[in-house]
Amino acid sequence: MTQPLVVAVDGPAGAGKSTASRALARRLGFSHVDTGAMYRVVGVLARERAIVLDDDEALGLLVGGLSFAIGEGERLLADGRDLTDAIRRADAGELASRVAARPVVRTRLVPLQRALAAPAGVVMEGRDIGTVVFPDAPVKLYLTAAPGERARRRAVELRARGETIDEAALARDIAARDRRDSERAHSPLRPAADAVVLDTTTLTLETVVDEMERIARARLGASRP
Ligand code: DC
Repeated sequence: MTQPLVVAVDGPAGAGKSTASRALARRLGFSHVDTGAMYRVVGVLARERAIVLDDDEALGLLVGGLSFAIGEGERLLADGRDLTDAIRRADAGELASRVAARPVVRTRLVPLQRALAAPAGVVMEGRDIGTVVFPDAPVKLYLTAAPGERARRRAVELRARGETIDEAALARDIAARDRRDSERAHSPLRPAADAVVLDTTTLTLETVVDEMERIARARLGASRP
């Protein structure tokens, strides 16, 4: 089997994975997949259906038939419904982190993520891409940043969407989410042994993407575009 052309980008909330991964995908001519968005969809739909977030039977029924599609402008459609705005609200991250700790949810989403590996290459971001989804990915990056800086970046992003944000509360939420994502038994957040760890605390987005591109091109081979 030929090895899928995957750049795995993992790391905690607010490390700048999404913006940097999207920019990297554009530079490499790869597609971009944000797996966090899929967990967010499951979290938002579970709440909508009043499912208790550790009710594995109900979660199993919810994810069992769920299908995802990417619409115009990277809009995310779940069973044909556009949930792009709902999944970006601050509370959706918390819901996602809770359902993501349930093996029944991960067992369903991981094969869907593997199926999104495109022949032309994909930059896939999440928490377990380099460790579980694509353990043989030729390029693995782990983006992190100091907790205070990650909370500040998330606040800027959410304010830009029109939300009123209490930064101290946001910092607490992010710390709790980091803990849950890192300490869960199934596919915890951690860098793969062969990942390059990039601490972005003091770096500009441009520098981060330059560095990611340099590493990706070196690992993919100098002959790649
Ligand atoms: O990247 P994000 O903040 O949108 O992800 C939301 C939550 O989804 C995150 O707190 C943990 C979970 N997640 C996961 O467990 N595995 C992934 N590959 C991606 C996200």
